[in-house]
Amino acid sequence: MRQAVTRLRGAFAIAVICADYPQELIVARQQAPLAIGYGQGEFFCASDTPALVPYTRAVLTLENGELARLTPQGVSVYNFAGDRLKKQPRTLNWNPVMVEKQGFRHFMLKEIYEQPGVVRTCLEAYLNPDWSLGSNKPLATINPVQLGITDGLLDGVEQIQILACGTSWHAGLVGKYLLEQLAGIPTMVQYASEFRYAATPLMPNTLTIGVTQSGETADTLAALEMEKQRRVGKPAPFQARLLGITNRPESSISLLVDQLIDTHAGIEIGVAATKTFVSQLIAFYLLALDLAYRRQTLPVEGIEQVLTGLRQLPALIELILESQERYIEELTHEFAETQDFIFLGRGINFPIALEGALKLKEISYIHAEGYPAGEMKHGPIALLDAKVPVVAIATPGIVYEKVLSNAQEAKARDARLIGVTPLNAPEANEIFDNILPVPAVDEILSPILTVIPLQLLAYHIAARRGLDVDQTPQSRQERDR
Ligand code: BG6
Repeated sequence: MRQAVTRLRGAFAIAVICADYPQELIVARQQAPLAIGYGQGEFFCASDTPALVPYTRAVLTLENGELARLTPQGVSVYNFAGDRLKKQPRTLNWNPVMVEKQGFRHFMLKEIYEQPGVVRTCLEAYLNPDWSLGSNKPLATINPVQLGITDGLLDGVEQIQILACGTSWHAGLVGKYLLEQLAGIPTMVQYASEFRYAATPLMPNTLTIGVTQSGETADTLAALEMEKQRRVGKPAPFQARLLGITNRPESSISLLVDQLIDTHAGIEIGVAATKTFVSQLIAFYLLALDLAYRRQTLPVEGIEQVLTGLRQLPALIELILESQERYIEELTHEFAETQDFIFLGRGINFPIALEGALKLKEISYIHAEGYPAGEMKHGPIALLDAKVPVVAIATPGIVYEKVLSNAQEAKARDARLIGVTPLNAPEANEIFDNILPVPAVDEILSPILTVIPLQLLAYHIAARRGLDVDQTPQSRQERDR
């Protein structure tokens, strides 16, 4: 095996059994996830940790360039050169119930319903209890969040680059909005799969944030590794500063970055990211507040306003889930023959339009485009007719009227208009054929609410079509290659 793996090229995670040694399994990892589970007189290997949870919680994630030998007596790990390595499994604080559907038809629906709890847990983990308007200490001396990120990583940061794929990239776009608008730091968001082959020229004092649900996406890991390597030996301002945002602190990203924000969303089984996306957004709100406090870009009242709004979100997500699921399920009858959808949003809700479209295409195989509402007239409007529903995200704030007017342009093309917008806004009632109502909140917090009806819409359209919502053909393993 050792001789063979050094001759292999590309990414692989292999398990090999030899007819002469049926009690042994040899596994090897290179750029693809491979986890080993420790049992009692039995050992397991899998491409991802959730598969091991029903059997054991003691798990060792192999690193690139490592081999392991699994026998009933134990596990021994080696590098590809044959040197024995000392490795200990870590104990996951998960339980088997986390990988059960618990009465839900699909994991995706279960995970959509877990979102209020996920937001609560993440806020509880990181909001500073000492921050309260009744505090004896002046609030200007108390950081509102406790992310545990060292000063060395954040001090003097001049720009931020976010590297991610898919839904995590969309979270990065919302993150950019928050980091720029709340903390005043210029921020770029790059697809990891592009950045790997065309990196931005090296800039000093740059914080690089890798965002990944699984912690194993090959492009994201490779982009972070490249960023780290190209800064080795450079003068101090050019040294790498790497931060990870993930719900999987035990995954491979933890080996690459200086520090992690664990979003506390737990494992996501459904292939379409839902609760982990919302938890990534919460991590960005908290990071932006942390930086806003450190750099004094927001007054105490401004910070308090965002904190108050954040604390209200779990109850508001619950409200949307309770009041809307049935309606959205019924509405999907009308899309039995639909082949194309357009999602529109502006400002902080433009990434949510992208996310709504991605959710729909990923699990229902319906063609869907997310577009900045103001750009629709520059081309895509030509696609619209009565057969193409347009979902517009219009929440009160700086771009509200603009989105409504963009939606009206679509209406002039006979498109059916669905609004993700607060109920009882007379101007919206007139424009939209259907409304997926969301409570009116501060615009900057609205993405956490506007994404919920879009997740339900994608889920119910796919479920109605009888598709396997949790496991699309483009499975996680394929993505991890
Ligand atoms: C894709 C998944 O293949 O990978 C998406 O289908 C996901 O749902 C993307 O957003 C990135 O994954 P991760 O684990 O790096 O966030």
